[in-house]
Amino acid sequence: MLKKIIAIAILVVFVAISTASADQCINCHKAVTPGIVADYERSKMAENGVTCLDCHGEIEGHKDPSVKEHNGFRITPVPSPKYCERCHPQQVQEFLNSKHAWTALIGPFKPWYNKMVEEGKIKAGEAPSEDVMKENDPYKDIASRVTPLYPASGIMDKIGLLEEMKGYGSILYCMECHGTAVIVDENGNIVKGWPNSGIGRLNPDGTPGSCTACHTRHKFSIEEARSPETCGQCHLGPDHPQMEIYEESKHGNIFFSFENKSFLKAEKLTPENTPAPTCAVCHMSEFNGVKSTHDVGERLYWELQPKISTAQWYPSNLVPTGEAKPDEEKAKENRERMKQVCRGCHSPRWVDNYFTEFDAVVEDYNKIARSAKALLDKIYEEGLANKSNPIDEYPELSWYYIWHHDGRRWRMGAAMQGPDYAHWHGLFEAVGDKYLKLLNWYETAKRIKSLETQIGKEETKRSPFIGLPLLIAAIVIALTLKIKMRK
Ligand code: HEC
Ligand code: HEC
Ligand code: HEC
Ligand code: HEC
Ligand code: HEC
Ligand code: HEC
Ligand code: HEC
Ligand code: HEC
Repeated sequence: MLKKIIAIAILVVFVAISTASADQCINCHKAVTPGIVADYERSKMAENGVTCLDCHGEIEGHKDPSVKEHNGFRITPVPSPKYCERCHPQQVQEFLNSKHAWTALIGPFKPWYNKMVEEGKIKAGEAPSEDVMKENDPYKDIASRVTPLYPASGIMDKIGLLEEMKGYGSILYCMECHGTAVIVDENGNIVKGWPNSGIGRLNPDGTPGSCTACHTRHKFSIEEARSPETCGQCHLGPDHPQMEIYEESKHGNIFFSFENKSFLKAEKLTPENTPAPTCAVCHMSEFNGVKSTHDVGERLYWELQPKISTAQWYPSNLVPTGEAKPDEEKAKENRERMKQVCRGCHSPRWVDNYFTEFDAVVEDYNKIARSAKALLDKIYEEGLANKSNPIDEYPELSWYYIWHHDGRRWRMGAAMQGPDYAHWHGLFEAVGDKYLKLLNWYETAKRIKSLETQIGKEETKRSPFIGLPLLIAAIVIALTLKIKMRK
């Protein structure tokens, strides 16, 4: 009996303390950050009694160097997905299975990550701990890298400004989308990499990713997350223009022509209440019998971004080290899920025929890409370009454009009904512009080289006679000018 009374008394005190806590945050923050409190009060979670402390409060037994004393509480300013996991385990697990969570490591921090793995400081497939990030500054590493992923650094090297360009690697470029590495000092104050809501952010507690990338705090709204603009923040521009493609597609057209988009607020999206699919409908939402997912790869057959397209790579956390492998079986299941989404609004034949055409485009792209790569290899073999710096010569830059810009637009335009991107910004630019110029460059360079060899021979044979070398030099200059004009 006594035990029971004590237990109840403890519970009452606990509840009193916890509500008092929540009220304390709100009361004070109404004055300090009124915008945050207003958003929070409009959120579904506030409606359901989730408090500031539920997300910001220290998790028992979980090491997080960003947790610090704050007006009598122990809180973190950067609740990682780990802080959401207690209540949303499924969403967090799916998100961690996706490339979204790992994209800081797949993107800007890849060379640094691979170096850390090589040196045994991180196990392949694990996110770096705060200690590793603090002891091996990932930002410093980026500024000195020369890889095709950092075209600027290859070019900067050639210009001779690589050392001076310390700003490259700044958090305002790649990391705005891919995510920063968040570094804290010994007092738990964040000194670098925050604010940032890049989707694969490396958090101080060693959990990768940022839910805030699509659910901005403190509304954490699904309406916002379902809007194409949310994805379009990162999915746009010359190398992955999904937003522009969507805008020119019939689906985007229908979506943007509706003034009332309140269907995005629906508890569940269905073929009946959805006039046109948004990015989320095709890639994430529960729809037409397909379960909802926070793994955006779960409905994709192809990898449309690499040099050569293959079936989707698995697992995502091994993409940074190159150990992930295409998985045909899984990719086929993904395709079936995507088709089932389409079939909510289209007939099966419409859907099958569409994907037959799309797959053929990807295969055609692959043929062109292999052929262009073979030409680059021939250029290297014949000594017309130097492999040492992978992206500082004309043929190398052409190849980069062919796969990384034009080739992506070409494939993605075909995937999502953007014919202008599939053809004019894609196929045409890749083949009609970059490939053709590369071929012309090769032929010209070969002729110049053979003329140079001939000059060399002539000179040793009859050096007093300068008429022929002069003539050849004139041809060389004329050819060089011609290349310039073509560029
Ligand atoms: C007595 C007033 C007060 C209370 C109570 C209070 N805060 Fe704050 N909070 C502040 C002020 C002032 C700042 C800005 C200065 C600073 O960072 O300390 C702040 C900053 C923050 C930050 C940003 C920290 C950073 O490093 O930038 C977070 C997150 C935060 N508060 C959350 C909370 C939570 C959660 C609670 C309740 C558990 C809470 N606060 C309670 C006054 C308060
Ligand atoms: C559902 C979880 C959740 C709840 C509830 C929540 N927060 Fe946050 N809060 C976050 C997340 C996530 C971030 C973003 C951290 C990041 O990724 O940068 C954040 C960021 C912040 C920041 C720093 C951001 C800035 O713009 O300065 C403050 C201050 C803050 N929260 C205060 C509060 C207060 C006060 C409450 C209660 C009224 C509250 N939070 C409730 C999850 C939550
Ligand atoms: C203490 C439990 C708890 C924590 C921690 C928590 N949530 Fe929630 N969340 C809820 C509840 C309860 C709901 C409302 C019920 C529902 O719709 O499932 C909800 C709903 C949501 C929704 C749907 C909102 C809508 O408009 O329908 C989103 C998005 C969300 N949470 C994101 C987050 C994120 C991101 C974090 C971590 C930063 C987080 N939650 C942390 C309990 C929590
Ligand atoms: C505007 C946002 C944005 C910026 C800035 C950005 N990226 Fe990306 N990046 C993306 C998106 C979105 C994708 C996904 C493309 C796709 O799969 O269609 C991507 C894809 C990639 C990939 C391919 C990943 C894979 O799975 O193969 C790499 C590598 C990459 N980015 C590196 C970088 C680097 C390095 C920088 C800076 C020099 C950078 N990105 C700048 C948004 C961005
Ligand atoms: C790429 C964007 C994106 C990111 C990142 C993201 N979400 Fe979501 N989230 C969505 C979309 C879109 C929906 C609505 C799904 C639907 O229509 O069924 C959603 C819905 C939710 C819901 C409501 C229940 C459900 O599953 O539909 C919760 C809870 C949630 N997200 C939590 C999280 C948490 C926790 C994280 C971080 C681990 C996160 N989200 C990261 C886009 C995102
Ligand atoms: C903050 C930036 C950001 C936002 C917001 C964002 N993404 Fe991404 N997304 C990326 C980056 C970066 C990648 C590249 C991941 C990689 O391969 O490294 C990516 C990759 C993807 C992929 C390819 C995944 C794969 O397995 O190949 C899909 C599909 C995708 N995103 C869909 C979405 C959708 C749908 C939304 C909105 C609901 C969204 N994204 C919001 C940055 C973002
Ligand atoms: C009508 C459905 C639909 C809509 C709407 C849609 N997509 Fe897609 N998306 C697809 C299909 C189909 C593919 C190719 C799937 C495959 O590989 O089998 C794809 C592929 C992708 C990829 C993968 C590219 C890669 O590198 O592998 C990304 C990223 C992506 N979409 C993002 C978006 C974004 C962002 C939006 C909104 C601006 C969007 N999608 C709108 C159906 C859609
Ligand atoms: C929410 C309903 C919905 C979903 C889901 C949907 N569509 Fe559509 N789609 C439409 C509507 C409505 C149209 C306009 C039909 C018309 O022209 O009358 C359309 C048009 C099209 C067109 C014709 C484009 C043109 O310019 O002629 C294609 C192709 C298409 N959809 C393919 C797909 C594919 C592939 C998927 C799945 C990846 C898909 N759709 C998913 C509603 C949807």
